[in-house]
Amino acid sequence: MKGLLTLENIGVNKVQEIIDLALEFKKGKKSVRYPNLKMATLFFEDSTRTNYSFQSAMLNLGITPISFNAKMSSVNKGESLYDTVKTFENIGFDGVVIRHPQNRYFDELTGITKMPVFNGGDGSGSHPTQTLLDLVTIYEEFGRFKGLKICIIGDIAHSRVAHGNAEIMKRLGMEVFISGPDFFVDDTAEVISIDRAVAEMDIIMLLRVQFERHKDAMGMNTNEYHQRYGLTKFRVERLKENAIIMHPAPFNRGVEISSDAVEHKRSRINEQMTNGVYARMAVISMTLEGKL
Ligand code: CP
Repeated sequence: MKGLLTLENIGVNKVQEIIDLALEFKKGKKSVRYPNLKMATLFFEDSTRTNYSFQSAMLNLGITPISFNAKMSSVNKGESLYDTVKTFENIGFDGVVIRHPQNRYFDELTGITKMPVFNGGDGSGSHPTQTLLDLVTIYEEFGRFKGLKICIIGDIAHSRVAHGNAEIMKRLGMEVFISGPDFFVDDTAEVISIDRAVAEMDIIMLLRVQFERHKDAMGMNTNEYHQRYGLTKFRVERLKENAIIMHPAPFNRGVEISSDAVEHKRSRINEQMTNGVYARMAVISMTLEGKL
């Protein structure tokens, strides 16, 4: 299937090509247009950034974006994802972006459509364009990956961002660590304390506590979580020199990250959102050019 479903089988040279193209788009050094194409965003889970930055990327490329409203669609009459995607192909769409709560929902679509499919996040599986925009942001800041130390902090176990990020970051030569309470960490990487992370890491990446996926499972209130595992106002002033703060957002201010950290001069959270548009332009464009 054309498009981008995961980064598992994408080599590091291709990843670098996507990053370079995204930064060319950002600097205005490259402009391509695909007039007369239309693509749809099919979101079966809530989203602000991914849905609308994909649409912004399409508009920048001259592609007409259409939002699919799952709550007002024939999904409510029992129509399957397979039949929904086939419908979009049959009525003339040139690609779809899908976010779905089921891990690897795209396996059931293999071979059924000629349209490119872009994964906007599958369950706790992966979120490849989020990973790419994170890499664009890191590369823009440091100009390299090799040797950089990153700690991904928080709800690793339920995160579609953490696992995909750790996998490709290791392949790119970064040293990856994780941090959080026992019930949020797994064997993705070595577990370290947040205080060690703050002192030693080049990149601190906080993850949202996904209350909607594990109500009350934390066994502590949000203030206690913030003090024990969060990037507090106190900790943010102890960051290693030139370290940056990242978060895929949306964030819970005062839970995994303090407002002071969100607004801090070392925060790159706004840049991540901006870079999402350029990373998605690069992915769509390379797909349409047969390079992905
Ligand atoms: N980072 C991210 O995926 O945000 P949305 O859920 O708003 O798309």
